[in-house]
Amino acid sequence: MGEKRPENMERITTPELAERFIDEKLRELKNQIGGGKVLLALSGGVDSSVVAALLIKAVGKQLVCVHVNHGLLRKGEPEQVVQVFRDQMDANLVYVDAVDRFLTKLEGVADPETKRKIIGAEFIRVFEEEARKQEGIEFLAQGTIYPDIIESGPVKAHHNVGGLPEDMNFELVEPLKFLFKDEVRVVGKALGLPDSMVYRQPFPGPGLGVRCLGAITRDRLEAVRESDAILREEFAKNGLEGKVWQYFTIVPDFKSTGVRDGKRSFDWPVIIRAVNTRDAMTATVEDVPFALLQHITDRITSEVPGVNRVLYDLTPKPTGTIEWE
Ligand code: XMP
Repeated sequence: MGEKRPENMERITTPELAERFIDEKLRELKNQIGGGKVLLALSGGVDSSVVAALLIKAVGKQLVCVHVNHGLLRKGEPEQVVQVFRDQMDANLVYVDAVDRFLTKLEGVADPETKRKIIGAEFIRVFEEEARKQEGIEFLAQGTIYPDIIESGPVKAHHNVGGLPEDMNFELVEPLKFLFKDEVRVVGKALGLPDSMVYRQPFPGPGLGVRCLGAITRDRLEAVRESDAILREEFAKNGLEGKVWQYFTIVPDFKSTGVRDGKRSFDWPVIIRAVNTRDAMTATVEDVPFALLQHITDRITSEVPGVNRVLYDLTPKPTGTIEWE
């Protein structure tokens, strides 16, 4: 019931249409929520950020945003969430540093699906604990978008996350549930969110955890985070940001020999993946200019500790999936 996009709903393609959608939603949200308190898990991804920005406009401090830093976010992400939502939008934001907790739980766990399950379950547990600390919450806001409802594509299939316990019986608030991703971006832009949040590439829930292959170690996780930051910086500088659908780095759990300053080294490789797709079911590899790949290789091998080689993944999907785990 009510889970079908209304047939007469116009596609939100312009700032004017976004403004109209926002006005309508603000009215609906104020109606639904009244003087109640709303809880939102704010990851910093496009969907939850747009929901947060809408709710801040609609109900201000009645919204409690919880940002869980599980240690598997990209470089600068938790800081940006705090800066945009707490400093600029004056939101009620609870920042939870759960880095040690997640990394301890994941210690020695090499199986990809077990890693995903641990990350998903631990996330729910941390969020639940924070929810219990808050008094008088009646509503739970979620960044559900239309494809989450109509498809069970490869992205959804990976979500091994359960829900909140039954005794936490919140009424759901899902203002984006009939929007497609491109519409969410237009709305986010109209709400004044920064481009780096609005036009962000897809990022899996288990984050860098599925790109630090096998059992996660802190040194390799840092190598993933630092090399990813270099790749993103270079793609942005060279006009590939917003053009390439998804790009990131992977650090496998084996070493190879190298040579540095005339001495033998035995260090990790970094693998670069850059792909284009419409629906993530199939994907093609971006033809990144060779000179740029060489420049990124130079930067990664000189700036990222413990890395002596860089490889470029030439495999389309199929046969390779987009992620390596
Ligand atoms: P694959 O690797 O299956 O990925 O080709 C397709 C798309 O799904 C994303 N992905 C995930 N997203 N949780 C998510 O929220 C996950 O566990 C997960 N695994 C993969 C992947 O980044 C790509 O966009």
